[in-house]
Amino acid sequence: MINKNYQKLQGSYLFSETAKRTAAFAQAHPDRSLIRLGIGDVTLPLVPAVQEAMHRAVDEMGKAETFRGYAPEQGYEFLREVIAEKDYRDRGCQIDGDEIFISDGAKCDCGNTQELFSQEVRIAVCDPVYPVYLDTNVMAGRTGDFCRESGRYGDVTYMPCTLENGFLPEIPEKMPELVYLCFPNNPTGSAIRKEELQKWVDAANKSGSVLLYDAAYEAYITEDGIPHSIYECDGARTCAIEFRSFSKNAGFTGVRLGFTVVPSELVRDGVSLRDLWFRRQGTKYNGTPYIVQRAGQAVYAPDGQKQIREQIGYYMKNAAVIREGLLSCGYQASGGVNSPYIWLKTPNGMTSWQFFDLLLEQAGVIGTPGSGFGPSGEGYFRLTAFGSHESTQEAVERIRRM
Ligand SMILES: Cc1ncc(COP(=O)(O)O)c(C=O)c1O
Repeated sequence: MINKNYQKLQGSYLFSETAKRTAAFAQAHPDRSLIRLGIGDVTLPLVPAVQEAMHRAVDEMGKAETFRGYAPEQGYEFLREVIAEKDYRDRGCQIDGDEIFISDGAKCDCGNTQELFSQEVRIAVCDPVYPVYLDTNVMAGRTGDFCRESGRYGDVTYMPCTLENGFLPEIPEKMPELVYLCFPNNPTGSAIRKEELQKWVDAANKSGSVLLYDAAYEAYITEDGIPHSIYECDGARTCAIEFRSFSKNAGFTGVRLGFTVVPSELVRDGVSLRDLWFRRQGTKYNGTPYIVQRAGQAVYAPDGQKQIREQIGYYMKNAAVIREGLLSCGYQASGGVNSPYIWLKTPNGMTSWQFFDLLLEQAGVIGTPGSGFGPSGEGYFRLTAFGSHESTQEAVERIRRM
């Protein structure tokens, strides 16, 4: 009766276990203050430009003359057009408003796109990985069984990302049909240079693979030479789908807004993937709220841009404090330059969970064990820049005293 593939999913052990261990520690040590640097959620409020746009949109919805019902399934043109111009054409990428699909966030889109492909396709994921790409393919029955010993599903191509390869996946000798890439990366915080990403695009065009490129953290890029979009690479229009989110650049985690780009030139088996996605969204999705799309539009206005840049700057200051603090205490730490995530190697060969316990007990700091993101994350640990300046500074001081 049920979809048995769901039983192959591994429990969402990571965050429940960190919560359990934290709660037990807090109960045993009620006098100790805890600092949470494990959160992957933003903490700063919506910027004024966004708030104002939402208020205006609410007022419109409250009047018969300006009330709107179902939104167009692909998203309002006012938002698709400003995205096409500011996120793509201004960066030299030829993306049309018609190739942009507004959604309620990148998570759903990352999870849903696999539906466009046959049951037989093989997927490749980075290891460690944001779990959505893998789990949605488990649910769809594409991954084979999970092997407890290796920590892997039998029919998936894993691309280890470790200190040894600079946290950049190597192009598989035999490219699977679907390859998930995420840059800047969650959880490792690594970014990819344009010439490196170009190699993936060339390989995909050669093999006929489709790259599913998650650029949810694009706004955190600070260095030159790091592409903000895969369409900055030549030939990406014929091999790549890109996911974007308003969650981390503009604090929309609770508002919900994202989009997916499917270029019209992306064709497999003689079928346009853009048309398939249009059909899929039209059938299963009823449009992102008008109020939310107006909020998204406000992000691109000059005052909106200035305000969100300040917020990102706030988080990136935290990222620098963590990164430099760790490096100065002798940790091997990366990320935090083009991403809000700092990824550190646990000292003295400790496992990720041993380091979690040590950090909790000795510093009262809570992070995320790298092993929770995949077997190659063992021996690594993730800290995030989404706390306050004060708590971040305090956390680093406590780590220094450990
Ligand atoms: C790599 C990555 N992609 C996508 C998402 C989800 O974004 P959204 O809030 O738009 O669903 C996240 C959220 O943490 C993420 O880390």
